[in-house]
Amino acid sequence: MKPFANEPVLELRRAPVRARLEEALREHDARPALQVPVWIGDDRREGDELLSTDPGDPERVVARAAKATEADADAALATAQRGSKAWAATPAQRRAEILINAGQWLRERRLEAAALAVRECAKPWPEADADVCEAIDFLEYYARGAVDIAQGAPLLQVPGEKNTMAYTPRGVVAVISPWNFPLAIPLGMTAAGLATGNAVVLKPAEQSPGCALMIFRALREGGVPPDAISLLPGEGDVGAALVKDPRVHTIAFTGSGAVGLEIVKEAATLRPGQKHLKRVIAEMGGKNCVIVDSDADLDEVVPALVTSAYLYAGQKCSAAARVMVHEAIHDGLLERLAGAVEVLDVGQADRLGIDVPPVIEREAQERVARYTEEAERTGRVAARAAEVPERGWFATPAVVADLPSDSPVLTEEVFGPLLAVERVKDVAEACDRVDASPFALTGGLFARNPDTVDYVIDRTPVGNLYVNRSITGAMVGRQPFGGNRLSGTGTKAGGPGYLLQFVEPRVVTENTMRHGLVV
Ligand SMILES: NC(=O)c1ccc[n+]([C@@H]2O[C@H](COP(=O)([O-])OP(=O)(O)OC[C@H]3O[C@@H](n4cnc5c(N)ncnc54)[C@H](O)[C@@H]3O)[C@@H](O)[C@H]2O)c1
Repeated sequence: MKPFANEPVLELRRAPVRARLEEALREHDARPALQVPVWIGDDRREGDELLSTDPGDPERVVARAAKATEADADAALATAQRGSKAWAATPAQRRAEILINAGQWLRERRLEAAALAVRECAKPWPEADADVCEAIDFLEYYARGAVDIAQGAPLLQVPGEKNTMAYTPRGVVAVISPWNFPLAIPLGMTAAGLATGNAVVLKPAEQSPGCALMIFRALREGGVPPDAISLLPGEGDVGAALVKDPRVHTIAFTGSGAVGLEIVKEAATLRPGQKHLKRVIAEMGGKNCVIVDSDADLDEVVPALVTSAYLYAGQKCSAAARVMVHEAIHDGLLERLAGAVEVLDVGQADRLGIDVPPVIEREAQERVARYTEEAERTGRVAARAAEVPERGWFATPAVVADLPSDSPVLTEEVFGPLLAVERVKDVAEACDRVDASPFALTGGLFARNPDTVDYVIDRTPVGNLYVNRSITGAMVGRQPFGGNRLSGTGTKAGGPGYLLQFVEPRVVTENTMRHGLVV
């Protein structure tokens, strides 16, 4: 296998590339809505209890999915339990080849997959394309990582003794995923489970079953055996049924803090017949802060903040939510940021060049409006985007300021295009505020003094700190990603240690002194 390299994103500046995207979207729109079945082993049950619609045009149905029930979860786990044995016995090299085949299948359909993400989750083209690339990266990266793990770990050897440490698959993995990276996140967690020899039951977000079908097909077409991967489109109750089941060994969850904490609690309860402790990998929400020191270059800071806070309408878990600005430059930065927010191009995800697409659903639109009203009531809305389309779940991007320190706008995850600016007397005070937060996912710093950079690195609790750049866009292998504190278990998806969560180490010590032969 060649060394891992990130899948290159499309060159959207080139007109022929853009023309291909438009063609892919036309083809997507010409096809009927996707039918997403509950797919367990070789059994498929179609249905249309779950409708996924275009957030920019809620009348447009993108996928009709069957809604998995608890009985389906039961059947999927029985299949996974059976399938896990043969899959675990498949050599790691062969499993890796299968995942790389799946990556190739997706690569050949990258425009189709991106068009689907544009429609189903209102991902603007650059983000949709990046989501496909990241999905392929996870397949390629974990395939290689699992082959390395299969070599075991070197141990100290002494005369007369042979020590080996091997990693064996844990068994059945339940993957429960969110909608905001509808391809990369479910595929990443699933690929990690499969690469290390576990059978996987995938329960994708109810908002993005179409994208889940795309990655499921990639895995099946790549050669994953039917009883090693099942698809359960459905709602939270199916996820909860998987979490409680004693046949599940590992739960790979990405989503909100409230659901993550519930999963951690439920997974800790021993059920009848259960002979193991479940392991939970939980990647949850954040309240990501960017610190701006007095010597920062505002020409760099303003565009980076706009990207961090408003790209994909602030619906990346890494998005900036709070900016803590040195008092010497607070007013100047806020004024420039307000100017940038007023002119944000808020529009449909399929239009190239927009800044902010709609949010995922009506509930999200209402949530953002509620927090903005709260900010207006207790502080100040410094600017709003001037023009926002009527049709679709658009939330008005805004920048707010002068909030009381206990404002929910500063302490709760909004998950939308709302950025709060705070005045601090120095970087130390900003670090104190960051440290007071129970979240620790991403963070940012703009400063030119290397001592300040070192100081903040030393003090920050966050899982991913970005210095003098935007705080979103982690790349597999380059920025292993995951939060600390209540933002997650810190296992770092796309990083060297991630796969160890899906295996169990076993050490064998053999006395190699001669004892004579048994004949
Ligand atoms: N830390 C990260 O890497 C990361 C990445 C992406 C998203 N997120 C977070 O995800 C959230 C947005 O995603 P969302 O709205 O899909 O999150 P969510 O928690 O509402 O849903 C996530 C998944 O959990 C399922 N679920 C709901 N209730 C359940 C229950 N009781 N038991 C088991 N499963 C259940 C849902 O059906 C869905 O598949 C944000 O908080 C965001 O910060 C975090």
